[in-house]
Amino acid sequence: MKLFLDTADIDQIRKYSFIIEGVTTNPSLIAKVNTEYSFEDLIQEISTIVQGPISAEIISLESGLMVEEAETIARISPNIVIKVPMTMEGLKATKRLSQMGIKTNVTLIFSANQALLAAHCGATYVSVFVGRLDDIGHNGMEVVKDTVEIFTRHNYPTQVITASIRNPLHVLAAAKVGSHVVTIPPSVIELMSKHNLTDTGLERFLQDWKKVKF
Ligand code: G3P
Repeated sequence: MKLFLDTADIDQIRKYSFIIEGVTTNPSLIAKVNTEYSFEDLIQEISTIVQGPISAEIISLESGLMVEEAETIARISPNIVIKVPMTMEGLKATKRLSQMGIKTNVTLIFSANQALLAAHCGATYVSVFVGRLDDIGHNGMEVVKDTVEIFTRHNYPTQVITASIRNPLHVLAAAKVGSHVVTIPPSVIELMSKHNLTDTGLERFLQDWKKVKF
């Protein structure tokens, strides 16, 4: 399973670049970072830090315009993946982009049927938003599980990204159901690395080491 970082924060991307294999951004994440970069410069800067896939989202709603916008963004770097919203127009654009050899990440997926349509149109990735489903009392991970099962059974090359991660348990559950990728906010990567017993254990080792004679 690959780990992507779900952020547009350059400092955080630098900090975790030794762990992650890719980055996902969206308009909200980009709006959140207080940056002097333009959108294109920001994506370009991320591509100098991360060798793997970098998802950048288009904001057009009509398929022709979506394709034009995607072509412009894709020119920034060979590792750009175009994030396309899960609409009928988005699917049309996904199909065209796939024929053009431009990688896509169909986003805002909340059901396995949406994921199936995206895969059928040649999506490179589908992003299933588990946290937002859980927020409204649904089981987000069930959608990931069903989607992985469908893609495996029918040999779709599309990879499932578990997105909208809220806590370390989401990452664990995604790994167990065979998600190809999990895109994780920096705060959750930090939590994944921590355990109280690790901290107290290290403290004890260091204290005991002081008693050792050289
Ligand atoms: O990649 C975007 C997705 O992870 C959104 O997460 O926290 O806004 O539901 P969130």
